[in-house]
Amino acid sequence: MSKRKILVTSALPYANGSIHLGHLVEYIQTDIWVRFQNMQKDTECHYVCADDTHGTPIMLRAEKEGISPEQLIDRVWHEHIADFKGFHVEFDNYGSTNSAETKAYSESIYRKLKAANLIEVRSIEQFYDPVKSMFLPDRFIKGECPKCHAKDQYGDNCEVCGAAYAPTDLINPYSAVSGAKPELRNSDHYFFKLSADTCQKFLREWTRSGSLQPEAANKMQEWLGSESENKLSDWDISRDAPYFGFEIPDAPGKYFYVWLDAPVGYMGSFKQLCNEKGLDFDEYWNAGSKTEMYHFIGKDILYFHALFWPAMLQHAGFRTPTKLFAHGFLTVNGEKMSKSRGTFITADSYLKQGLNPEYLRYYYAAKLNGTMEDLDLNLEDFLAKVNSDLVGKYINIASRASGFLLKNFDGILKKDYDGFGSLLGLIHSKAEEIHSYYELRDFSSAIRKIMALADNVNAYTDHQKPWQLAKDPSNNLQLQSVCSTLINAFRLLTIYLKPILPKLAAEVECFLNIPPLTWQDINSLLPDGRKINSYQHLMTRVDQKQIDAMIEANKQTLEPTTNAHSPARHAEHQQHAIAPIAETISIDEFSKIDLRVAKIVNAEHVEGAEKLLKLTLDIGEEKTRTVFAGIKSAYDPEKLNGRMTVMVANLAPRKMKFGLSEGMVLAASGEAPGLFILSPDDGAQPGMRVK
Ligand code: MSP
Ligand code: ZN
Repeated sequence: MSKRKILVTSALPYANGSIHLGHLVEYIQTDIWVRFQNMQKDTECHYVCADDTHGTPIMLRAEKEGISPEQLIDRVWHEHIADFKGFHVEFDNYGSTNSAETKAYSESIYRKLKAANLIEVRSIEQFYDPVKSMFLPDRFIKGECPKCHAKDQYGDNCEVCGAAYAPTDLINPYSAVSGAKPELRNSDHYFFKLSADTCQKFLREWTRSGSLQPEAANKMQEWLGSESENKLSDWDISRDAPYFGFEIPDAPGKYFYVWLDAPVGYMGSFKQLCNEKGLDFDEYWNAGSKTEMYHFIGKDILYFHALFWPAMLQHAGFRTPTKLFAHGFLTVNGEKMSKSRGTFITADSYLKQGLNPEYLRYYYAAKLNGTMEDLDLNLEDFLAKVNSDLVGKYINIASRASGFLLKNFDGILKKDYDGFGSLLGLIHSKAEEIHSYYELRDFSSAIRKIMALADNVNAYTDHQKPWQLAKDPSNNLQLQSVCSTLINAFRLLTIYLKPILPKLAAEVECFLNIPPLTWQDINSLLPDGRKINSYQHLMTRVDQKQIDAMIEANKQTLEPTTNAHSPARHAEHQQHAIAPIAETISIDEFSKIDLRVAKIVNAEHVEGAEKLLKLTLDIGEEKTRTVFAGIKSAYDPEKLNGRMTVMVANLAPRKMKFGLSEGMVLAASGEAPGLFILSPDDGAQPGMRVK
């Protein structure tokens, strides 16, 4: 039988932020699947990834830190590597898109697309920052919303009223980089002609070929439209200097847009592995390859992986992915990860609390089912699941049985345990079912099955009552045999859990004195007379204090986000410069603003308003004031009732669709998501003037 050869990738994390628990959903999911594959005798599975290092945000961030982009991405690379290692995510190669290999493949793909007539140059008009001497991506332009007149809105959509528009629609636009007023300028851009018949035709076929999960295939149908439509538009793949990236061949001053070379990073990283291990790159990447290739990705980047990437590969003469495995997004305690709540948890902060990374691997596995559904990390449930399932049900088997064996029998296993009799036979009989759950990435079903088996083992223990047998030496034979059965059961369960708990499995192998467990080992039992080693605590319970401390730590370290759901975040906006300080004013001018302490006596949703809450404010006047505030995304109205804040009391009332707004509540916001209303210190009374 010929070997199954598989190449697996995870999406390349951006090199301008820390790895957080949202990212880890993907890397842990992929790592589990790869480890499962590599436990199979006839499978060779390679897992590569890399940092995604190019683009404007990285360039600007390096500049802000006063270092070169190369220095920045080198530092982040080491941080990322350490985070992954900390969670036992084991890549065969972890590269960088800023590599000679990725550059070479990007250029060669580009040349082939050009030769196939799929590259076109077009002049486009775009905002230019005359101070920074650079063209500005939409997300680096801010201004007043043309619809609701909210200030400091991004160039592509308004966070207050939700309107979408072009940056040229903004009123009084300014550059978020320098604060300068941008100018419209023309520039030549390079486009990949995705709208060409050949791309459309190919993508329609590819969508039907079973390379996508059902939900993803539906999305593709939406993007492609019906057979008679052509809904695909050409893709702008160039950016003008200054840009951190690869210059386009024969196009001085033009660079590949970061999303052009990002997936090519899969090839670049694999090429490095080939060089190191003597693998044959072409065997995996040539058109018609017999090997399998899978990309694990988040649902937010499906568009890039399902449209551009296969179309690029196909028309450059390479193979296309066997399948895309898209997963959903992580929420924490049912909500989007949030810095203010401390639930934007970095990988590093988790590890620093001394929390065992295998807890999280286990918890994620228990939630992952192979679909694109979002998954929730509920911290209470996390603690309960780890403590009751992992420690209470599984680890407990070994700790109970090994005690008697070591104390009474020198750790020697007895041969006439029930063999593949009722209990071990039952565990063994589920091998195929559990195997197929893993293969389908339905880890949650695998875990449910495995834990049900652990329940059977614990029921067996309760029935055999080894602690009673141990009271009378005439029961020794039975005691040794029961405990030997339990140790064997534990070994079989460990085989099933090994992809999820690799470090624990290695410790079990040590404890049982056995070579690394493979999937085939499910068919054998420990030999008669095998001596087990002394039992070391394999895993302790999670402590609520560690979780609390982790949340607290994340409230303090406010790192730039990479977590917005919107695909727009991939459009180069990951820059977090503060908006420029406004023009100087005199104290007289300031005192024109009448700021008052206000008590929120009522807060409620406004029907039909996406962003607004209706606030009723007491500022010591006879009548309360009504203010519509764009804070719905950040606050649950119930939590606001009774709270003190600060309002502008002499702002001209404004007629809105939902009623008259009589002032404005003060709230802070920046580039990072989140909105924070101000509150005075204790003791302030409604109506007090703030000056
Ligand atoms: N650099 C691009 C990917 C290029 S692949 C050729 C990118 N980087 S990222 O750092 O923003 O995200 C990396 C992966 O982590 C993506 O697949 C993304 O979907 C995933 N996740 C980021 N935040 C996540 C959650 N909160 N939840 C689940 N997955 C998340 O996208
Ligand atoms: Zn608006």
